[in-house]
Amino acid sequence: MMDGGTRIQDRNDALVADALAGLTARQKTLSPKWLYDHRGSALFEEITRLPEYYPTRTEAGILRDNADALAATVPTGGALLELGSGASVKTRTLLDAGGHIGTYAPIDISRDFLFETAEDLRHRYPTLDIVPVVADFTAPVALTAALTAVPKVAFFPGSTIGNLEPSRAQALLSAVRDWSDIRAFVLGADMIKETTTLVAAYDDAQGVTAEFIGNILIRLNREADADFDPSTFDYRATWNAALARIDMHLVSKRDQHVTLANEVISFADGEAIHVSAARKYDPQMLAALARSSGWDVNRQYVDDQAYFSVAVLTPMKQWS
Ligand code: SAH
Ligand code: AVI
Repeated sequence: MMDGGTRIQDRNDALVADALAGLTARQKTLSPKWLYDHRGSALFEEITRLPEYYPTRTEAGILRDNADALAATVPTGGALLELGSGASVKTRTLLDAGGHIGTYAPIDISRDFLFETAEDLRHRYPTLDIVPVVADFTAPVALTAALTAVPKVAFFPGSTIGNLEPSRAQALLSAVRDWSDIRAFVLGADMIKETTTLVAAYDDAQGVTAEFIGNILIRLNREADADFDPSTFDYRATWNAALARIDMHLVSKRDQHVTLANEVISFADGEAIHVSAARKYDPQMLAALARSSGWDVNRQYVDDQAYFSVAVLTPMKQWS
């Protein structure tokens, strides 16, 4: 398709609808799920290697220290299903310890990145069945018949649960509780700690996080017929103690108008778009969330600095 010499990109209707709703609200918002196009997924991987971003290496340590016990939650021949799998790097610790696991199903919204990761894993684990599932986990996830049939364990690491509104987190935990033959839910969550440590993790010196968050505007230009000038927005990360979360904003550096799918959106100088929140859970808060969603807390592992927890949840018997 050509128009005046420029290729018209396929418009992402779901992104257009969501962005229009969010950017015309009084507090302008975008959903963090749109951060993950291929570039966004690659930038997140860069974040995981930053000195300031302690969550990945801390959780990786907990997984390494308890790999055998965690892998053993999956019955022989059963499946490990990871929600928001990204590059599945930490997961390899569990797959290495779990030679008895039959299937690994990475579930992610970032389609091309997911398929690349699955291909890489097929080379690393030639006898494991790798079944990538492209899905948005804020809606019901449709599992294949084969995945439905086997005993399974859900794995939700990275503290991605913190990027969900508590009501959505509860809905996701409840939905997984209803999967057939679900045996356990292994859930990683970042904990509340000193503000400077928290803020630095989301506002790194190299500016990778700023680029990751700003990439959403480039995506809107490409897939939602928008004309943002990303250089006219600053990135800002703040700790919201009342809600126990880091808020990530893009702040307009001037009064300006932006067009998105033929709608004009006005920004005042200093006006912010809320792009993502990273909620932090202490183990008691997490346990309460789990119990309200049909899960018992079997055990929780916490690192020596009390930075991060990995919980093993098991299905509550009385749950309808
Ligand atoms: N599990 C990895 C990656 C975490 S990054 C780790 O712990 O390091 C969060 C991942 O969740 C990304 O790969 C992103 O594409 C995916 N994701 C974010 N929102 C999603 C949604 N609504 N549905 C499915 N995947 C989502
Ligand atoms: C994927 N998720 C848990 C990351 C987090 O820590 O909230 C995403 C992220 N956003 C900015 N930096 C990292």
